[in-house]
This record gives sequence, structure tokens and C-alpha cells, in this order.
Amino acid sequence: MSGDGEIERLIRPGLVAFGGYSARKSPENLVGELEVPLESVIKLDANENPYGCSPRVNRALASFREINTYADAGQQELSGLIEGYTGISAGHIVSGNGSCELIDLLFRLFVEPGDEVIVTAPAFIMYRFSAGICGGRLVEVPRDKGFGINVAAIKAAIGKRTRMIIIDNPNNPTGNLAAEKDILEIAATGLPVVVDEAYFEFAGETLVPLMDRYHNLMVLRTFSKWAGLAGLRIGYGLFPPIVANYLMKIKLPYNVNVAAIVAVRESLKDLDYLMDNVRAIIAERERLFNELKKFKFLEPFPSRANFILCSVLGAMAGELCDKLQRRGIQVRYFNTPVLKNYIRISVGKPEHTDILIRALQKIGEEING
Ligand SMILES: Cc1ncc(COP(=O)(O)O)c(C=O)c1O
Repeated sequence: MSGDGEIERLIRPGLVAFGGYSARKSPENLVGELEVPLESVIKLDANENPYGCSPRVNRALASFREINTYADAGQQELSGLIEGYTGISAGHIVSGNGSCELIDLLFRLFVEPGDEVIVTAPAFIMYRFSAGICGGRLVEVPRDKGFGINVAAIKAAIGKRTRMIIIDNPNNPTGNLAAEKDILEIAATGLPVVVDEAYFEFAGETLVPLMDRYHNLMVLRTFSKWAGLAGLRIGYGLFPPIVANYLMKIKLPYNVNVAAIVAVRESLKDLDYLMDNVRAIIAERERLFNELKKFKFLEPFPSRANFILCSVLGAMAGELCDKLQRRGIQVRYFNTPVLKNYIRISVGKPEHTDILIRALQKIGEEING
């Protein structure tokens, strides 16, 4: 056999047209496109924590030596630590290489080619990614004008091949929370219902206490956002024990690395520090919202997460994103039909807000001639 064409014939047909994940460019790839020095680029495009991780994590990793050993495939220490944080016993807990991995594992566990998973639209884009890889069909139920979930439409979308319903709460990219009673009405269908609480620490609301009443309810969380550990890739899920057992069986053995385990151990010893940063981000979110509201060409949506979705009036959202990028400010633009007039801005430190607002003022002056 020879040639790329021959090899491509052997690739699973369902993956040939798979689009992958389109991440924004990292700053180091922007050289030549920037009007500012690379060091001054501000990343407000990936909902990362501008305050970084706990200094305890940095100190512990600086002296960490056991890089030559595999992590515990059974995740015993990790599950114990997360049990202490969530109050949910270890038998319900599975950790992943970011909560993205847990999303992917859930698709692998429940979804055969042609099976359906219901999500709301817009929602976190990784659901589409994982559905695509396993040949599942994503049934996207539109949110209403204010981005609320439409429970009746979600229930009406349930069919013979529905295997799972996912609600991200707060929702990425809209930032709003669904009402608890609405999620419970969906959970009452008995289908696996996954509530993705990646932004829980910013919103302060959770479905976790209801898991013992609804045995089909599963909750995903991450250390990426509130604890500033995005780069170490550590998320966890709280599942009914039977689901947790299956996930433990199908996950790759050492999916969470040794450094991430150290980071969780140290982060959970430094909750006051990390939650102070969360409170600073929440305060800054409110200031950013009020500042964005002052622009005639922007309409920000109230958020319970660490980002703000902003409608760009006059349909130049992609252009606005590029103009900001040239000035060294990265925000997120989703080139999809539902979101083509929106940008999503992660909440940074106060000085990041100041630089963003000044750039928007300049761009506003350019637009108005
Ligand atoms: C709703 C939602 N879920 C999950 C994740 C994934 O987080 P991670 O894989 O970093 O834990 C994100 C990250 O942006 C998110 O927005």
C-alpha cells in the first residue's frame, strides 16, 4: 500500500469529514499580526484564571521529584481529596485529564454511532467534538432569546435513540444559569442527565445535593477555572456508582498525571486564597459588564461565570475580534450561525479591563469615523 489516499481509505468514514476543535491562536503564533509586543498580549479568550494557581502549587511542584513514577490508576488519593471538597463519597468520583476527558468518556460509555445526545444551543463546543468522534448525533435544542433553556422543547426532542442530555450550568458561552426546577424536570425523564458545572465556584449554585434523589443525575467540575490549573488538565465528575465504575474501567489508566494530583492536594489546602481570587473575578465581572454596557455597539449579557457574552450590534463581531487581537487583546469569536454576532470576553484583572475598554473606545472612534 502506498500514498496518503490509500491510507485515508482506511480511516473511519465518520471521521473523514470531522472538523476537529478550532482553538484561537496562542499568543506565540501571533508574531507578525500584532501592533504590540508579544509580552503585552492579554488572553481573554479561554476563561482562564488571570491570578494563576495557588502559590502552594508552585512551591510543591518546584520540589516534586516523583516524575518517573506513574500516577495511581485507581485515583484513590484524588477521590479522597475531592470527597473532602464536595462532600460526595469517593465511590461516586472519577477524575479526568480536564473535565473535557470526562465529557469524552461519557460519550464513549453511552453513545453508539447513530445514537443521540441532547444539548442546548448555544452550548460548550466540546460536546459536538466528542459526539463527532463516536458517530453520535447531537440534537441541539435552541435556547430562548435571553438564552434560557426550553424544557418543553428538550423533552419533545427525546427519541428512541436519546442516550444522554447535557446542560452546562452556567452555560458556556452565554454565562447564565438554568433554574434548578427546570433541570430537575429534565432529570425526571430518567435519562442520563449531565450537568456541567465547570464554573460552579463563580456561580455558587449546584445540583450536587440533589444527586442522591436523582440517580441519573451526574455533575462535571474542573480545577481549570477557579483554581487556575487549566494547563495541568484536571477535572472530575460525580456519578452514580455504577456509572463511576464503568468510567474507571474505560478511562486510560494514568489519565491524570502526577503533577496534577500534587496541584489538587495543594489547591485544596489553600481554599481561602483561591476563593479570594474567585471573589475578585466576580467583582471584576460586574465592573466589566457595566463598562461594556456603555458602548452603543455592544450588548453584554449578565453572567454567573468568569466570562461575558456580548452581542456586537451591526454584525461585525469577527472583525472586532481581529481588531482587538491586533491590539494584543484576545477574545473569543465563534463563527457559527447562532453566535456570529457575538464575542465572549473572559474576565481578567482590573488592569486588563482598563486596557480592553481603552481599545474598544479607540475602535469605536474608528467605526464612527
Ligand atoms: C462548560 C465547560 N465544561 C467543561 C470545560 C472543560 O474544562 P477542562 O477540560 O479544562 O476541565 C469548559 C472549559 O472551557 C467549559 O466551558
